[in-house]
Amino acid sequence: MGDFFSKLAEFVAARMDVQDQLDGLPDYRAIMGHRYALRGRTEPLSIFQGEGLALYLFVKAFQPRVVLDLFTGTGFAAAHMAAGHQFTKVYSVDNYSEGGVGDAGWDAACELVQTCDLRNAKLIRGTHPDLMRALDADGVTLGDIDLLFLDGGGKDVSRVFDHPGTVVITHDEPTWLGTADFRLMGGSHLTFHVPPEMLPMCFTILSPYFMIGVSDEVAWRPGLPVGSVR
Ligand SMILES: C[S@@+](CC[C@H](N)C(=O)[O-])C[C@H]1O[C@@H](n2cnc3c(N)ncnc32)[C@H](O)[C@@H]1O
Repeated sequence: MGDFFSKLAEFVAARMDVQDQLDGLPDYRAIMGHRYALRGRTEPLSIFQGEGLALYLFVKAFQPRVVLDLFTGTGFAAAHMAAGHQFTKVYSVDNYSEGGVGDAGWDAACELVQTCDLRNAKLIRGTHPDLMRALDADGVTLGDIDLLFLDGGGKDVSRVFDHPGTVVITHDEPTWLGTADFRLMGGSHLTFHVPPEMLPMCFTILSPYFMIGVSDEVAWRPGLPVGSVR
């Protein structure tokens, strides 16, 4: 997975545009890097680069057996999680309804996973019953799902897959479980809904990220894998 970030940067340069839409989030520019949409589209929007890096680091340390990604969008989040650990299986589903992106969205997400050689990422076109069928076909049970990542309408269907012991990470939904837990960026973007005993681990894993992230824009960008792409 060593060259994941350079392959990702190549894909982003060839196929995506920066779509920060930061008007309501001016403080994010320095810390979170960019987010993207497929070239010529405004939706679906990826997570921010900083979030991708945080997800990558989290999977690298936590080494979940199975991750569910609701929903795929550009594939940016799924790709970072799959790159985190080669033995983690990432299932990601999307019906490509958002922005009417349809086949173009599905094709691009598949291409991203292929370009980055992420054989442990399985993309499914559809919605949660299709995901459930894919899990059944692979003999994956709810108990195998160690991590749920939710971005999109996933919060509504996540209860189908959640079970005691699953770590849930939400994008832009800090109060999903009605708890404070561990938040990256003041609670507006990634929130790690983890048991209390995992909070020190979260901080340890993400501390290099914060050391870079709290610096100014110039110091931050070289630290970001695809930061040079505009
Ligand atoms: C903000 S995007 C996800 C971005 C993604 N995390 C990334 O990094 O690119 C939200 C996605 O949720 C999908 N979506 C929303 N509700 C859905 C549902 N019920 N079933 C399947 N996909 C859904 C939309 O099609 C859209 O692509």
